[in-house]
Amino acid sequence: MHKSYDYAHPGVDPAAVPRRRLYTGATMPAIGLGTFGSDHVTAEEVAGAVKGAAACGYRHFDCASVYGNEAEIGASFEAILHSGIDREDLWITSKLWNDKHGEEDVIASCRRSLADLRLDYLDLYLVHWPFPNFHPPGCDVSSRSPDARPYIHENYMKTWRKMEQLVDMGLVRHIGTSNMTIPKLELVLRDARIRPAVNEMELHPHFQQPELFQFVLDNGIQPVGYCPIGSPGRPERDRTPDDTTPTEDPVIVEIAQRHRIHPAVVCIKWAVQRGQIPIPFSIHHFRANLEGVVADPLTSEEMREIAALDRNCRLIKGQVFLWKEGQAWEALWDLDGTITLP
Ligand SMILES: NC(=O)c1ccc[n+]([C@@H]2O[C@H](COP(=O)([O-])OP(=O)(O)OC[C@H]3O[C@@H](n4cnc5c(N)ncnc54)[C@H](OP(=O)(O)O)[C@@H]3O)[C@@H](O)[C@H]2O)c1
Repeated sequence: MHKSYDYAHPGVDPAAVPRRRLYTGATMPAIGLGTFGSDHVTAEEVAGAVKGAAACGYRHFDCASVYGNEAEIGASFEAILHSGIDREDLWITSKLWNDKHGEEDVIASCRRSLADLRLDYLDLYLVHWPFPNFHPPGCDVSSRSPDARPYIHENYMKTWRKMEQLVDMGLVRHIGTSNMTIPKLELVLRDARIRPAVNEMELHPHFQQPELFQFVLDNGIQPVGYCPIGSPGRPERDRTPDDTTPTEDPVIVEIAQRHRIHPAVVCIKWAVQRGQIPIPFSIHHFRANLEGVVADPLTSEEMREIAALDRNCRLIKGQVFLWKEGQAWEALWDLDGTITLP
């Protein structure tokens, strides 16, 4: 059982939380709550955090079918909506998982998420990865889907046409991409009837992706930043010895001490002030993260200091999506500016 909450009197006034404007004219809160339990936080705990976060003033929630907790989170949304919060005041994202890229699967998958989340529509539906390669929850880094394939634009567009149909049907208000690269996005922008409104991508002080970040902004796409704290609880399959930890960076630690906040909150403040939309996961610290974006901004000098910390350190490398034996994870990310050939 979760605690009972007073949603009508949130700790942080949702109207004080900055918003980002999408090309449709709609706006979304500039911070959301992530809901991936990283294979070790239970669905019930995450669903409890969703309620607690709504009571704190969060109105944006980043969900996905593969997180395995949409049914539990749906019960939380139902309670939140019954408490008097309007559906229009929430921003709810979900994502199409990699084994559902087939033309016959997209609409059914979205309907499944809607039913689990107990909603009539989603504000945003993303194609979670540009590869149709399934891996089971809890798998290790060497797991490969036997029929794994590279990015094939023609196939991606077949999936995208169904995503567009979801907008036509009124089941989703916006569609977007995730884990994309500039060359892949260029093709999607060329061929889409309904353009992506958002690209969800890894963004934290040690992985700032300046080129992709600028590219999406220049194309009217909002950057949503995942792992904004450097994902200290991420699954084992997403850890390598070279990974760095932004919250242990001496510059971040010093700024945190100056502001008397946790280094994680510095990462969140920096993200919002830079212009991306962080979606920190938290079951214990969500209040501090939201409070951090409405008070005591970082100075321009502090923003410059953090901009200089980029180490191009990608944490979520995606090895499980590789399609050939012996491939390095870099093949997924088109590092030379062209889409990696099959
Ligand atoms: N599109 C994609 O492919 C993709 C990939 C990865 C993630 N995501 C999304 O992005 C979300 C965030 O990424 P993530 O969960 O990997 O990592 P993250 O948000 O960078 O880190 C979450 C961790 O940070 C801790 N934390 C949060 N706020 C804190 C604070 N103020 N002080 C100290 N610790 C704090 C949390 O602990 P507590 O729980 O104890 O507070 C949790 O262990 C996911 O939940 C998911 O919704 C999307």
